[in-house]
Amino acid sequence: MHPKKEIAWEAVQLVDEAKRQVANEAAMMVNDGQILGLGTGSTSHYFIQKLGNRIMEEELDIMGIPTSYQSFFLARDCKIPITTLDEHLPDLAVDGADEVDPQLNLIKGGGAAHTLEKIVDSAADKFLVIVDESKKVEKLGDFPVPLEVIPSAYRPVTEQVKAAGGVPSLRMAQMKDGPVITDNNNFVVDVQFKEIPNPKELEIELNSIPGVVENGVFAGIADQVLIATSNGVESIKKP
Ligand code: 5RP
Repeated sequence: MHPKKEIAWEAVQLVDEAKRQVANEAAMMVNDGQILGLGTGSTSHYFIQKLGNRIMEEELDIMGIPTSYQSFFLARDCKIPITTLDEHLPDLAVDGADEVDPQLNLIKGGGAAHTLEKIVDSAADKFLVIVDESKKVEKLGDFPVPLEVIPSAYRPVTEQVKAAGGVPSLRMAQMKDGPVITDNNNFVVDVQFKEIPNPKELEIELNSIPGVVENGVFAGIADQVLIATSNGVESIKKP
């Protein structure tokens, strides 16, 4: 089952409005001349749309580096000039998250894009996270940690994950029979842990399993988080 949180339909529109609000606020923080990392997911979707509007209306000179096919196609539709990490490093990356803890550690990868997201977000001078309040947690770990796994390594990876105390589950596709295949042609294994006492240690441990391309723990990478709450947008900066 896809790990994104199930929420009641009545709440969907409120959450959606919160995502739009926080995304718009982030888009207003962008300065002319910047190179931007463009995150993936529904919150990033609103960010990319608002950015496209600003570029058109204010004639800004901005280029984007997408973190997935999703953000690439959307950025192109919004007429955002595209560049690559080969040509430019981002001044600012703006991306969503599935969980954010008080130290600004994250779990990402609900959209299976965490490998390129981590590459682009870490390469940026500043990494800004945009979330609605439902993503705020005291401790990471209710959301399973996504691993991007080379298909031929699926079996040994799951054995090692179990030995590390995790419960692995192969993410299955919707509207396609069989597993999700990432933008990099790999599987996604979602791993539920009872607890994550040390996100950085877990991030390193999971990436040391042969066949794991990247995992969805983003420890110590985020510089600032904008959270849409019922009282407006809250900002938390890395101490
Ligand atoms: C994709 C991600 C997304 O940023 C994360 O799943 C949040 O998505 P949304 O903004 O739709 O809640 O990590 O791999």
